[in-house]
Amino acid sequence: MTQINDVATLTAEGEVAVLTLNSPPVNALSAGVRDGLAGGVKAATENKAVKALVLICEGKTFIAGADISEFGKPPKGASLFEVQNAIEGASIPVVAAIHGTALGGGLEVALCCHYRVAVPSAKCGLPEVKLGLLPGAGGTQRLPRIVGVEKALTMVTSGEHVAAKQCAEMGLVDALVDEGKLREGAIAFAKKIVAEKRPLKRVRDLNDKVEAARGKPEIFAAFRKANAKKFRGYDAPEANIKCIEAAVNEPFDDGLKTERKLFMGLMTGTQSAAQRYVFFAERAVWKVPDVPDDTQTIPIKKVGVIGAGTMGGGISMNFLNAGYPVTIVETKQEALDRGLGVIRRNYENTAKRGRLTMADVDKRMGMLTGTLSLEDLADCDLVIEAVFENMNIKKDVFGKLDRIVKQGAILATNTSALNINEIATVTKRSEAVIGWHFFSPANVMRLLEVVRGEKSSKPVIATSMQMARKIGKIAALVGVCPGFVGNRILAQRQREAQKLILEGAMPWDVDRVLYNFGFPMGPFAMSDLAGLDIGWSKEKSSSSTIREILCEMDRRGQKNGKGFYDYDEARNATPSPVVEKIILDFAAKKGINRRTISDDEILERCIYPMINEGAKILDEGMATRASDIDIVWINGYGWPVYRGGPMFYGDTIGLDKVLAKMKSFEGQMGAEFKPAKLLEKLVAEGKRFQDLK
Ligand code: 3HC
Ligand code: NAI
Repeated sequence: MTQINDVATLTAEGEVAVLTLNSPPVNALSAGVRDGLAGGVKAATENKAVKALVLICEGKTFIAGADISEFGKPPKGASLFEVQNAIEGASIPVVAAIHGTALGGGLEVALCCHYRVAVPSAKCGLPEVKLGLLPGAGGTQRLPRIVGVEKALTMVTSGEHVAAKQCAEMGLVDALVDEGKLREGAIAFAKKIVAEKRPLKRVRDLNDKVEAARGKPEIFAAFRKANAKKFRGYDAPEANIKCIEAAVNEPFDDGLKTERKLFMGLMTGTQSAAQRYVFFAERAVWKVPDVPDDTQTIPIKKVGVIGAGTMGGGISMNFLNAGYPVTIVETKQEALDRGLGVIRRNYENTAKRGRLTMADVDKRMGMLTGTLSLEDLADCDLVIEAVFENMNIKKDVFGKLDRIVKQGAILATNTSALNINEIATVTKRSEAVIGWHFFSPANVMRLLEVVRGEKSSKPVIATSMQMARKIGKIAALVGVCPGFVGNRILAQRQREAQKLILEGAMPWDVDRVLYNFGFPMGPFAMSDLAGLDIGWSKEKSSSSTIREILCEMDRRGQKNGKGFYDYDEARNATPSPVVEKIILDFAAKKGINRRTISDDEILERCIYPMINEGAKILDEGMATRASDIDIVWINGYGWPVYRGGPMFYGDTIGLDKVLAKMKSFEGQMGAEFKPAKLLEKLVAEGKRFQDLK
């Protein structure tokens, strides 16, 4: 065995050499891995006794891509291109042996090998688009030469991981070998290649599939059109498409140059910086500084949910989907039947769309037990309360749970605004009480705010985070404060949106600006979708806000075809002249002198107070890190990923600019814009939110 460097070894298996990389956690192409590859290929090809080379990885995966943490730093070690040229240009066949995931630069290395074998559980993909990038090491030029233009377009613009079996069908993988026997299988394959004297298959030289698409721009036009909605606002998908076009229309080496140019454009832009930041933020969010990874967790086998309404139903589905039996409690049979019926219908609809079988539906429903008795929750390990948002009712429920549910269980509340510490006081085990703030629809939305009560114990926190992951959520740990993190920040935007429409903008102006910023919809379209009458009561309504007036006029939103907008049968929205008049009259009555409001002002008025509130949240310790706040806004409120979240966006604009604007708004409009102390401090120190440790 030859030790090439500290991550690469070369061993001989008869006439086949095996180059093994071992760079945990994911064998990313760090300088060490690139050097190991370069050295290993050189040593193998210089040895006349070696007739073929197998490239394989230790640990959980084949090379999972370039080392993202090296991006933007000065280059070190062998370049990826040198390594790839050495492999592709080798005089002996090189076989990539793939397990786990061959992603990004990892797959691009494999594409330079002359053959690829994989175990059935392996996956291949070019996920760079998710980092705001494109495969910058020849992936866009080689992939379509094997799989054809259509499949390549889908792979590079979706970033999806493709299962080995499908890879084999599309020619990306030459042979599947038995699970758990990759090394032996790859060596046997290499020996066979040598014995059969098969030619070296260099992907760069394959042209028939790209030539087939030459002179057919309609392929690309149709692809762009079909995906326009999905790609809206993102730079990377279009750059990826352009590269595949180059693969079709340009010679290989020119295509590589086009790829490089477009790659550098993305790499130096703010979108990729944001998306790479989000990649790490999504991983950091799970880490709770004072709750280490080895904190003891509570085994969860059975889950109880209280309330089979909008949230309770969705919450239950999360657990059923993950294989946990759920008991759901209601006060009346009718409400229980309705709740269970909604869950069944949701599953049946998924089955109709082909994403579940009817057997799956029955299996999930079979794990769900409805009851009218809280006593049936006695043996649950985790109970989540989702009854009406009313402190007295919640206290009553938690008092009962304390008497009924076994010791050691987690008692969680899905409250969106009530004080969890106060709820905990009615129990004799406040350490077991915690918030699990799901977002609606709870079975769809990825975000979960885990709300840490004053007394929530570490095992309760650790288990909550672990369970969130098991049910496919992304969880951010937040503290008890009005609105927690997400809704507290939302309140800032909502307040300004409401003020803006009185001062001179129209709802559709505000919505347009926020939609163009990248949100799926603006606040007024959102209110129409949710229903303007949520939380509205006819008896208490006194025409004191635009929303009250709209509800009093039975303009309740999309559900009855009119809200801030008018809706046609297909739910297409048009600005409502009626609403316009209501707003003008209301503003006149209030003595407001309406003025023209620029799009810039709309954006700054809506977004900067959010950044400012985020700074307060951080200062108060209600979120662990700025990036956790960004995770909340991306996953709970549709903040565009390519802008990294409100805190990252603040850093991108420059906190000094945000502060100056907040001060100027404060001068014009008062205390609602008072800058957060942390914002002032960071600006004084020339720092960003990202610099906070
Ligand atoms: N670079 C640097 N670090 C990476 C990395 C990468 N490409 N991929 C993963 N990591 C790190 C993670 O940050 C994490 O670190 P932590 O433990 O300190 O938080 C650790 O590896 C384990 O990662 P996960 O928690 O994500 O592990 P999973 O087992 O859940 O998933 C994976 C493994 C599917 C490989 C997933 O990590 C992943 O999707 N990685 C990114 C793959 C990717 O985007 N590759 C393309 C990179 S860009 C590129 O190649 C450019 C080229 O075209 C030139
Ligand atoms: P909902 O009104 O749809 O459902 C509440 C259900 O609880 C009703 O079916 C009711 O019969 C039942 N219920 C009331 N008292 C009960 C008791 N003592 N025992 C058993 N069942 C009881 O309300 P929704 O929207 O599901 O909200 C539930 C909780 O979730 C509230 O605390 C709310 O603030 C919170 N929440 C709601 C969100 C939303 O978008 N709807 C989002 C996040 C949290």
